[in-house]
Amino acid sequence: MPAPDSISRIPSKIGRLLRRLVPARWHASTPDPVLAEALGPWASAASDIRDHLGTIFLETVLSRPRLIVELGTRGGVSTRALLAAAEVADAHVLSVDLADCSGVELPQRFRPRWSFVRADDVAFAGKGFADFCTGRGLPARAEAILIDTSHEYDHTRAEIAAWAPRLAAGGALLFHDTNMAAWFRRLDGRAEPGRDNARGVIRALEEFLGKRFDERTFFVDRAQGYAVWHVPWSSGFTVLRKLD
Ligand SMILES: C[S@@+](CC[C@H](N)C(=O)[O-])C[C@H]1O[C@@H](n2cnc3c(N)ncnc32)[C@H](O)[C@@H]1O
Repeated sequence: MPAPDSISRIPSKIGRLLRRLVPARWHASTPDPVLAEALGPWASAASDIRDHLGTIFLETVLSRPRLIVELGTRGGVSTRALLAAAEVADAHVLSVDLADCSGVELPQRFRPRWSFVRADDVAFAGKGFADFCTGRGLPARAEAILIDTSHEYDHTRAEIAAWAPRLAAGGALLFHDTNMAAWFRRLDGRAEPGRDNARGVIRALEEFLGKRFDERTFFVDRAQGYAVWHVPWSSGFTVLRKLD
């Protein structure tokens, strides 16, 4: 008869074997019909932001937005997730990019909820943003602000300084690319080439929050009046929710 000790070790041995034979593979899925409609083919297409689209949608809905700001639009993938949240919350999305992204392909039904401004995002945070809000009869505040631009340290610092004061109470600052490296892992376990940017975004966040983080881990935290949560996969995504 095997010793009780060796019996108790069986589950961990099986676990080790499974880990070797069947690597962890999770996938992002899109059960919400509005989000699925807004994303269209992007719900399953390979992109560095795909694993975060559900988070962008949900955190924005949870912000009870009237105005949602997107800094960094490019092909409009994150725009689609934000537009889905705007549709659910009856809000508006303002996208800002250095490049002219006004012609990006977006589902027609969501287009009336979208405005695009071609500008440097830091410069636009001042009078440009205030004027835009006045024109729509809104206070110069956004309930959700997604930052996905250069990912450079100095620029991210400037973005936080310019846009954190524009965040409404209870709102969320959302950051992509908070765990950048020469290679990144997707949620499904695949490795893709990335870019080592010397911790540009997370370093700027550390400075803002007065904390050090290990961005290769999943973590939650509280600092400087924000609830913080971070996931490390797909170049990292970090949410700062402003506590009342
Ligand atoms: C990573 S892409 C954005 C991807 C987009 N969020 C998506 O999901 O498809 C970065 C974008 O930031 C823009 N960008 C870089 N620096 C900027 C700045 N200072 N102000 C505004 N946009 C900027 C670039 O033109 C580029 O389109």
